[in-house]
Amino acid sequence: MQPSASSRVRQFEDGEQFQLLVQSVVDYAIYMLDPEGFICNWNEGGRRIKGYEDEEIIGQHFSQFYVEEDRAAGAPEHGLRMARENGRYEKEGWRLRKSGERFWASVVIDPIWKDGELIGFAKVTRDITDRHLTALRLEEAQKALLQSKKIEAIGRLTLGLSHDFNNLLTVIVNSLDLITIHQKDPERVDRLVQGAQRAADRGMLLTRQLLTFARGQSLAPEIIDASKFVAGAKDLLTRSSGLDVHIEFSLADALPAIFVDTTQLEAALLNLVINSRDAFKESGTIRIGTGLIEERPADMEASAAQFVCISVSDDGPGMTDEVLQQAVQPFFTTKDVGRGSGLGLSQAHGFAAQSGGYLLIDTAVGRGTRVSLCFPTVEN
Ligand SMILES: Nc1ncnc2c1ncn2[C@@H]1O[C@H](COP(=O)(O)OP(=O)(O)OP(=O)(O)O)[C@@H](O)[C@H]1O
Ligand SMILES: [Mg+2]
Repeated sequence: MQPSASSRVRQFEDGEQFQLLVQSVVDYAIYMLDPEGFICNWNEGGRRIKGYEDEEIIGQHFSQFYVEEDRAAGAPEHGLRMARENGRYEKEGWRLRKSGERFWASVVIDPIWKDGELIGFAKVTRDITDRHLTALRLEEAQKALLQSKKIEAIGRLTLGLSHDFNNLLTVIVNSLDLITIHQKDPERVDRLVQGAQRAADRGMLLTRQLLTFARGQSLAPEIIDASKFVAGAKDLLTRSSGLDVHIEFSLADALPAIFVDTTQLEAALLNLVINSRDAFKESGTIRIGTGLIEERPADMEASAAQFVCISVSDDGPGMTDEVLQQAVQPFFTTKDVGRGSGLGLSQAHGFAAQSGGYLLIDTAVGRGTRVSLCFPTVEN
């Protein structure tokens, strides 16, 4: 006949039965401590995990399972106090077997109350060394992977830069050779000089980008008129846009002043123009404009009410969503090795944000791209 539910409970509550159950657990060390932390009783799991016989351990203080540094720091007492105050204490840490070997333990201590009086603690310890070591190994492997990725990235960057500088020097050297040959053809010489200057400008921008990246950006801002600044950089920007590219300027009059680092601004603008030029298959038009913006994008945290924007637009192929999402990330580039390091937009973005402004990219495949650098106006 099946025992009724209540008789089953009665059987289970029976001390001997319960003792049997606790004793048959071998994967967990379960032991009873008195209120001071002396061991009153433990199970087979305790013997197996810690390696002591009953007579060696009953009556001893449970702190002997702790490693020396934890004992010195008062960890055993702290565990009991926390369990008493909070109703439970859980922690992972190193513990000792009888042999002196360390194992990584998961420990739970529960206080046992009877009629409002603390009569001891139930302590359950599990040996989770394997899991812990696996987690440590995984962490190490992840660190190693990160390190090797860094080395790979530096390798790629160095390769790219060497190609970049090599290409630029080749252009300059070839131009000088051709100038020597065609000295009597002023038009040709003029074109060659421009080509060499463009290559040298690109080299300068690249070194500037690398220096900013290596040192972090420290700004030396000054008060300027954005339109006057762009007008002053016209020659440099036109030269960098290349021969087959048409470049137009539309600069607003009487703009409020902005407070920016002009070296960084020049580098950022140069990068935008070179980006547009690189995007064209053959030829195209670049428009550089300045203007006042009264409303900022909703997700901008900047406190200013008005921004002066300098924008570079092109009628090139535009960016896909995927490229747009990553465009401002450092080292993101879709260009071949030696044609781009992927630092341009990331720096322009960082520079705008550090100046209290923002960088905005408006692009669509087949429709072209407009990148705006917006800076807060200086209050008078
Ligand atoms: N005007 C643009 N039209 C189309 N794609 C663009 C344009 N500007 C930027 N991109 C895309 O964004 C990427 C990142 O641009 P970014 O200026 O940060 O780096 P880069 O030009 O590739 O290299 P670097 O500027 O360091 O020489 C480019 O590789 C390109 O794919
Ligand atoms: Mg670029």
